[in-house]
Amino acid sequence: MSWTSYPVDQMQGEVIAPSDKSCSHRAIIFASLARGKSKLSGILESEDVLKTAEAMRKLGVQIQKLNTGDWIVDGQGRLQDSKETLNFGNSGTGCRLTLGAIAGFPIVAEATGDVSLRSRPMNRIIEPLSEMGASFECQNNGQLPLSIRGNRNLSAISHQSEIASAQVKSAVLIAGLNATGETIVKEPQLSRDHTERMLTTFGGVTETSIEPNGYANIRIQGRQTLNATEIKIPGDPSSASFLVACGLLGSSRKITVSNVMLNPTRSGFFEVVKQMGGSIKILSENVVSGETVGTLSIESSSLQGIEVPRELVSSMIDEFPILSVLASFAKGETIVTDAKELRVKESDRISSIVSMLRVNGVEIEERADGFTIMGCDGPPKGGGVVKTSYDHRIGMSALILGTATQNPVSVDDVSMIATSYPSFIADLNDLGTSIKAGSP
Ligand code: S3P
Repeated sequence: MSWTSYPVDQMQGEVIAPSDKSCSHRAIIFASLARGKSKLSGILESEDVLKTAEAMRKLGVQIQKLNTGDWIVDGQGRLQDSKETLNFGNSGTGCRLTLGAIAGFPIVAEATGDVSLRSRPMNRIIEPLSEMGASFECQNNGQLPLSIRGNRNLSAISHQSEIASAQVKSAVLIAGLNATGETIVKEPQLSRDHTERMLTTFGGVTETSIEPNGYANIRIQGRQTLNATEIKIPGDPSSASFLVACGLLGSSRKITVSNVMLNPTRSGFFEVVKQMGGSIKILSENVVSGETVGTLSIESSSLQGIEVPRELVSSMIDEFPILSVLASFAKGETIVTDAKELRVKESDRISSIVSMLRVNGVEIEERADGFTIMGCDGPPKGGGVVKTSYDHRIGMSALILGTATQNPVSVDDVSMIATSYPSFIADLNDLGTSIKAGSP
C-alpha cells in the first residue's frame, strides 16, 4: 500500500534515536558465542535483528526477552546444527556475520533471505571462509540460498579485502576467533569498527593498525574464549540521519535528537552536512558501552552542494539516499564518486536514488560509481511516486523528501522500514510531519 508525505513548514520537538542495528546484531551473535548469560539492553527489535536472533535460536542458543530491548542470551561457547533453514530476511549483516560464526563449528546449516538479500553477493565471504576451511554449496552464482559446513579446525588467513566492508571484515574476524593462528584482515579504509570494540567487552582481543595510505590491518588471535557480559546498545547514527535531515529542511524547524552514536567510522554524514552549511550542534556527549553518544540540535538551514570527500564514503555508506535528498534542496552540484558499493546494498542504491529524485523533478546524472545532483536551491517540485525496491532507506528518504517539496511525495510501500526503524513514521509525525497512508 502506498503512503504519502505532505509538505509541512514548522517542526519542533525531541526524539530519541532508535538503537543501533549493527551493534544489536553483533551483541546477539557475540553473546551466543560466549560462555554464560549475557544481559543485553536497548536491543533494536527491528525485523533484521529479530531474524538474527531467530537464526541463533535455531543454532541452539537460548534467548529470552525480559522487556522491550532487554534480553538475556545464554551462550554455550558453541553452536549446534540447525535442521531448519536460517532465513535472514533483508539483512546482509545478520547473514554474513552468522555464516562467519558457523564456520568454526563442525555443523551444517542452510541460509536464505528475501528477494533483495538473495540478489546480493555472498562470494565476498564464501571465498575467505572457504580458504579458512569451511565448505559451501551454492547453486546460484555466489548468491543465497546456500548451505555451509563448518570446520572445528579452521586455519587462520591473511585476507586482503578489495572493499572497506565491515560485514566481510566481521565475518572473517568472527571465524578467526575459532581458527588456529592469527587471522589478519586488510581493508582499504577502516570500515565501521563495532566488531572490534564489542569483542573487547566480551573479553576478546583484536589489534588495529592504520597504514599511511589509509589501509587498515585488523588482527585477531585464534582460539579465544568469549565471556558473557552486559551490553547497552547506543543509538543508530544511520537512523538518526533521517531525523537530522528532516530538521535541516523547511524554513522553521528546530529539533533535538538524543542517543546518537558518534563513532568516527559512522559519522561521515554529519561531517558532510556541516560542510554543506547544515546547522548541527552537539549539546552533550557521554559514553555507552565503549561508544560515544551525543544529543544533537538541528535547525532549518540553507545548504550548499558539495563534492563528497572520498575518505568519508565508507563512514557514511548507508547515508547516501538521505544525503541525495538534502543535495536536492541545496544550491549547486553535489558530486558522489568512489561509491560503487551502493550498487549491492538492499537495492542498487545508485539507480534507486536516481529514480527517486527524477520522479520528483530533480536533475541527477548517474555514473557507475556515483552520481551528480543539480541542486534546486530550494524546494524541488515533488509529486512523484517512489519505488522502494525492498530498500528501507529509499522509503525513509522519499518520505523525508516529501516533508519539504512543493507537492506531496508518495512511496509504493513502507513495510521494509520495519527492518531498521519500526517507529519511523510515528516518530516523525510526533515531530510535526504529515505522513499518511494512501495517495494524495
Ligand atoms: C554493516 C556494514 C555495512 C552497512 C550495513 C551494515 C554492518 O555494509 O552498509 O548496513 O553492520 O557491518 P558492508 O559491510 O557491506 O559495507
